[in-house]
Amino acid sequence: MTPPQSPGTDPGQIKKQHAARASLAMLRDDMILGVGTGSTVNAFIELLAREGWASRLQGVVSSSEGSSARLHALGTPVLDLNAVPDLPLYIDGADEATRARQLIKGGGAALTREKIIAAAADRFVCIIDDHKLVTTLGRFPLPVEVIPMARSYVARRLAALGGRPVWRQGITTDNGNHILDLHDLSITDPVAMESTINQITGVVTVGLFASRPADLLIVGTPTGVEFI
Ligand code: A5P
Repeated sequence: MTPPQSPGTDPGQIKKQHAARASLAMLRDDMILGVGTGSTVNAFIELLAREGWASRLQGVVSSSEGSSARLHALGTPVLDLNAVPDLPLYIDGADEATRARQLIKGGGAALTREKIIAAAADRFVCIIDDHKLVTTLGRFPLPVEVIPMARSYVARRLAALGGRPVWRQGITTDNGNHILDLHDLSITDPVAMESTINQITGVVTVGLFASRPADLLIVGTPTGVEFI
């Protein structure tokens, strides 16, 4: 297990720590917890260990092989979602968020499992730092997971929506698929855009979390957190 890292003086890391720490208040003894992916979640996992939560949880459901390895190292049982009848809480980060708690996710290529866990969870708490808060989604390139043989076809369809798809070369998702990052798209109607992209044949998942937004956004700031 990697030793807990000090937040040091890196302002971005301090904000992530603030958001991650505030989310600990949502945990309950013996609960099964959904855990996402990324550097903010890594800060959360380190806090789970440091604050003694690793042994107080019944188990976790993880959104990526990377997070599973970190959680295994804490000694927390990592459970298959199929074996879990009820998932009361999911904690994950995001790449971009609005005050309507709609999100872009998938910068870490774990969007499909993240979307499944968000759908299955009663409550989705998203932890971000304040530079990810935007008025209109789309500054961060929108990740789209695609079946490999459909990559070029899907890219043409995405370009027709007005964006500029770029293949994230060298990345294969935990599900064996490819990622297209859709640049230069101003997403004024996230629910409609999510639905449109979902309907392109060959798309596995679009990283827009709009029809199922987060239930609570915890935004880390230099001095604390804002709850949205
Ligand atoms: C993983 O695929 C993503 O959805 C992450 O939740 C997102 O990229 C946030 O990552 P950071 O916390 O590292 O910014």
